[in-house]
Order: sequence, then structure tokens, then C-alpha cells
Amino acid sequence: MKYLASALPLLFLYNPSRVTAASSYADNSETAIKAMNDKWYNTTTGLWDGLWWNSANTLTAVINFALVEDSWKPTAQDIISNTYAKAPNNNEGATSTTFLNDFYDDEGWWALALIAAYDLTGNHDYLDAAIAIFDDMTTGWSTPCNGGIWWSKDKHAVVSIANELFLSVAAHLANRVSSQKDAALSWANATWSWFSNIGVIAANNTIHDGVDASCKAQDNSTFFTYNQGVILGGLVELSKATGESSWIDEAHKLAAGALAQFANGQGNILTEFGGVNEDNDLAQFKGIFIRNLAILEKASHKDAYTTVIKTSADSLWKNDQSGGLVGPHWQGPFVDVTTPSQSSAIDCLVAAAAVL
Ligand SMILES: *[C@@H]1O[C@H](CO)[C@@H](O)[C@H](O)[C@H]1NC(C)=O
Ligand SMILES: *[C@@H]1O[C@H](CO)[C@@H](O)[C@H](O)[C@H]1NC(C)=O
Ligand SMILES: *[C@@H]1O[C@H](CO)[C@@H](O)[C@H](O)[C@H]1NC(C)=O
Ligand SMILES: *[C@@H]1O[C@H](CO)[C@@H](O)[C@H](O)[C@H]1NC(C)=O
Repeated sequence: MKYLASALPLLFLYNPSRVTAASSYADNSETAIKAMNDKWYNTTTGLWDGLWWNSANTLTAVINFALVEDSWKPTAQDIISNTYAKAPNNNEGATSTTFLNDFYDDEGWWALALIAAYDLTGNHDYLDAAIAIFDDMTTGWSTPCNGGIWWSKDKHAVVSIANELFLSVAAHLANRVSSQKDAALSWANATWSWFSNIGVIAANNTIHDGVDASCKAQDNSTFFTYNQGVILGGLVELSKATGESSWIDEAHKLAAGALAQFANGQGNILTEFGGVNEDNDLAQFKGIFIRNLAILEKASHKDAYTTVIKTSADSLWKNDQSGGLVGPHWQGPFVDVTTPSQSSAIDCLVAAAAVL
């Protein structure tokens, strides 16, 4: 649905600040967001291509662009308010028309998107919705592994991503809701204590996907970029909330492990392994990682981070892009473009616009 088709050309042509100030990364972000919304954003559902948790990440990417590029803010606000109103009616597998469903990780993505929406707009409805989601996530803290939350409400698995999201949402709320700061901080802190001791963080600081039925790290599973990403943004928020730089030191260790695993051996182009062609989920992961790497870079610069962000953003635009659409392999060739591959690429372009 062409939700933005009529408004955008005006913004492009008549905003003089954009013409002089925007980097090519901002230009490319804008081109890619417009191509994505024209092709996949459905105003009736408030979702991109009907996808649920992916749309939370897509919304976050669009909001992050508006945080970098002022001229985009009105457009982002329109998308936020439409998605906020409509998406809950199309909540995948949910019994109620809210942002809650049976998956704690899905809930976490939406909580982070709504917090970003609050950061951009100052609208407390979005923050309140995120608080309600977080309250529901706390009910997942009943695993047999001495802590952590379940992946889903059927309580069959304990995975890294749900716990990283729980930590990150808690830490974000600690910085935004003063009346709940202590409670949110102690959840984040308890989650880190658990996460950093349960064995999912390997000796070389890569992060396993979760634990098995006996609460031992699944050390035979594929490594995924997003498992190394969400934790970085969470630790940066924790350092802000506590004023302790030790959280940033932890984030640097994990980022170094991740770059060794996913980028340094690939000419510094971030690369997902494990069948990225076939799977919408996998195509989403790299953007999540690089969005969070940019958060760490802003908090504490390292050349290694800007190198990977720049090399990836340049490569995906040159080798993996056609008509503003971007596929899942950032070294190319351009194949298999989907909403998740597109929004992942937008995360990378926006990261480049934000930190370079
Ligand atoms: C938008 O979503 C609605 C509800 O699922 C569907 O009926 C409609 O065909 C979609 N529109 C487009 C352009 O895909
Ligand atoms: C954080 O956790 C550590 C280790 O469990 C504990 O020593 C510390 O008191 C906790 N801090 C807060 C603010 O909860
Ligand atoms: C990985 O190890 C777990 C036990 O920790 C086992 O249940 C599972 O089948 C193994 N998976 C593979 C792909 O080998
Ligand atoms: C990190 O350790 C894991 C095993 O725990 C291994 O599979 C992986 O290849 C290592 N990564 C690097 C970059 O050495």
C-alpha cells in the first residue's frame, strides 16, 4: 500500500536542510525506507507485509532514521500512530488486541519499538504500552535454570534472545520511568547475573542461542548475529542508568567476539550464517546487531565498529541493491529481497548515518 507516496516527494524536494546536511548514508536510508513502505507497508494492518515481530524491528529502524534526520520526523510520526492503532488487531497468534502474545521475545521487540517511539515523540501512551509489555514479560521469570525468562508462555525453551530483550527493556525503562527505576534496574541486573553465568556466553565472547532442557548452553547451535546485538544496547542503557562504566566494558568484550565471528573474516562486511536465503527471520538479524553496535559506538567509540558499519553500508548499497531494495547478502549478489532483508539494510544505513 502506498501509504507515503504522496507526501514523500515534497519532503525530498523542498527541505533545504536535508539537501545540504544529509550524508549519502542518510540519502540512501531515505531511498530505502521509501521503497520499503511503497512495497510493503499496509495502512490497514499497520504492519509491513503482515509480519509481526519483524514489523516491530522495521518500525524501530524507521524511528531511528527520524532521530538522525529531522525532516523525516512527521512521516515517522504518522507511521507510528497508524501502527500503534492498527497493529494490535493483527497480532500474530494473540488472544487479545494488544501488543502481548505468547512469545516473550515478540513482546520485547514491540516494547523497544514503543520506547523508541516515545523517545522520538514524547508521547506517554507509547511508554505506558511498553511498561505494560514489560510487566507481562516479568511473568516469564519461572524457569528451572535459577533465573531467566522463558522464550514463550508454553514454557518449553529458554533462549538467549528473550533474556537479552528482557534486560534491554528493563534498562531502557530504568532510564525513562523514574518511579520504576529501582525495580527495573534490579530486573536488568538480575538478568545479567543469570545470563553471564549460565554458560551461553562462550569463552571467545560469542553467544549461544540458548540452553537445553538441563539448563546447559546449547553449544552445538548456530551463532546468530542478533544474539550478539540486543545485549549491547541493553548494557549501554545499564551503564547510563547506573553511571558504571563496567557495563560498557562488558559490551566491548561481546562486540569484539561478535565481530570476530561475523565480520572480520568477511572483509568487515557483517555476515549471517545458517541459510539466510530461505528464512525471513535470519534476514532480520544483521540489522538488529548493527543497530545495537551503533548504540555502543555512540557511547564509546572504537575504530573496529565504524569500520564494520561503513564497510557493510557501502557494500550493501553497491553490491546488494536495486531500485532502493536490498537483499540479505550484503556482499551481493542482489537476490531474495524481503521486508526483513530491507529493514535490516535500513538499520545498517541508518547506523552509518548516525555514527560516521
Ligand atoms: C492490507 O491488509 C489487508 C488485511 O489483511 C488486506 O485485505 C489487503 O489486501 C492488504 N493490502 C495490500 C495492498 O496488500
Ligand atoms: C546487581 O547484582 C549483583 C550480583 O548479583 C549484586 O551484587 C548487586 O547488589 C545488584 N545491584 C542491584 C542494583 O540490584
Ligand atoms: C545439540 O545438543 C542438544 C543437547 O544439548 C541435543 O538435544 C541436540 O539434538 C543437538 N543438536 C544438534 C543439531 O546436534
Ligand atoms: C568461538 O567459539 C565457538 C565455540 O564455542 C566456535 O564455534 C567459534 O568458531 C569461535 N569463534 C571464533 C571467531 O573463533
